[in-house]
Amino acid sequence: MALTMILSRVYQSVLSKKLIFSGNCCVLGLIYFLSPAKIMSNTMQAIEITKEGVLQLGQTAIPSLKKGQVLIQVAAAGVNRPDIMQRKGLYPPPASASTLLGLEVAGTIVAVGDDSTNLQIGEKLCALLTGGGYAHYCVAEAALVLPIPAGFSMIEAAALPETFFTVWSNVFNRGQLQSGETLLIHGGSSGIGTTAIQLGKAFGARVIVTAGSDEKCAFCEQLGADLAINYRTSDFVTAVKNFTSDKGVDVILDMIGGDYFPRNLHCLAFEGRLLQIALQNGVKAEINLLPIMLKRLTITGSTLRARELAFKAAIAQQLKTQVWDLLNTGKIKPVIHSTFPLAKAQQAHQLMESSLHLGKIILTV
Ligand SMILES: NC(=O)c1ccc[n+]([C@@H]2O[C@H](COP(=O)([O-])OP(=O)(O)OC[C@H]3O[C@@H](n4cnc5c(N)ncnc54)[C@H](OP(=O)(O)O)[C@@H]3O)[C@@H](O)[C@H]2O)c1
Repeated sequence: MALTMILSRVYQSVLSKKLIFSGNCCVLGLIYFLSPAKIMSNTMQAIEITKEGVLQLGQTAIPSLKKGQVLIQVAAAGVNRPDIMQRKGLYPPPASASTLLGLEVAGTIVAVGDDSTNLQIGEKLCALLTGGGYAHYCVAEAALVLPIPAGFSMIEAAALPETFFTVWSNVFNRGQLQSGETLLIHGGSSGIGTTAIQLGKAFGARVIVTAGSDEKCAFCEQLGADLAINYRTSDFVTAVKNFTSDKGVDVILDMIGGDYFPRNLHCLAFEGRLLQIALQNGVKAEINLLPIMLKRLTITGSTLRARELAFKAAIAQQLKTQVWDLLNTGKIKPVIHSTFPLAKAQQAHQLMESSLHLGKIILTV
């Protein structure tokens, strides 16, 4: 323990160029072989975006740490739809974030920014990031790391943070989904959708989803959805009304927007809540405002990445205390569609853009 602390401090000094190398070759050799960061080079491999918007493996500096942060040697990194938008230049990272792609990882702590984190070098964990996960090393806020659930591989753990933070903070905090209520999830077979189906069911809700093929619908029902609507062949408003005996649903998690907005208003029950988390069908919609008043609806939404650390840290605590046991006991599990080596990140994005996947796509490092 003492040795790892010393190595961590020396490592930090090297990264911040405060350490003058002199004399003791044994110590330096030890540091070199024990630090997985191979600190002598101070660089790492990471995915870069070319001018043409293509992903390729490159060499860049290992990120340096600040107080309250940890350096993670990445074992696996989740691919998320916002990464595609960032690659296309449509979703720039917040000012203080890494410009590298990657919103979630699982890996091993190789350095700590200071003693305040209570985290130890060598600990394995998963973490929510504001960027930087498509790399051999990344910096995470200590407050946003979560334990690897019992029996989980690094690949499975890397699939958790982005969707669990997003679904929990929207469906359960903003949307206040209650046991016995009905939740409608658009994009049921997505990374977000597969998490929302499982959490909705685990907390006692009735779950309806939309998806773009009969195969995807069957998959969502196997995962626990009570009704899956193929939106290409059925009108989801009619299907929701039939299934709920005209009552409508209490909460909608919507990643589509555009023309779905007025149709969502038709689907909501009295006191219904609409959570808008993306706008794949566009930012504009023409609606009749009257149902908002008559049914006393709540229209809200959010984006996770830009939120302040304290907000995300509070979500991390809630996930630890209210959700992680569901993972530890195997009651819920992320759906992994496929994995790609880090160098093949471009192919991983192509698969996600094809929408042929069910659940999560993961990069292995
Ligand atoms: N606000 C936030 O904080 C936040 C955080 C994370 C992600 N997100 C958003 O959440 C969405 C899902 O992210 P992800 O990483 O899980 O991506 P993903 O797995 O690629 O999911 C996108 C899904 O959208 C579905 N879809 C497209 N058009 C549809 C339509 N008209 N009706 C129903 N489903 C439709 C696709 O399914 P089909 O093939 O069946 O059409 C696909 O399953 C993305 O839009 C992302 O930007 C928001």
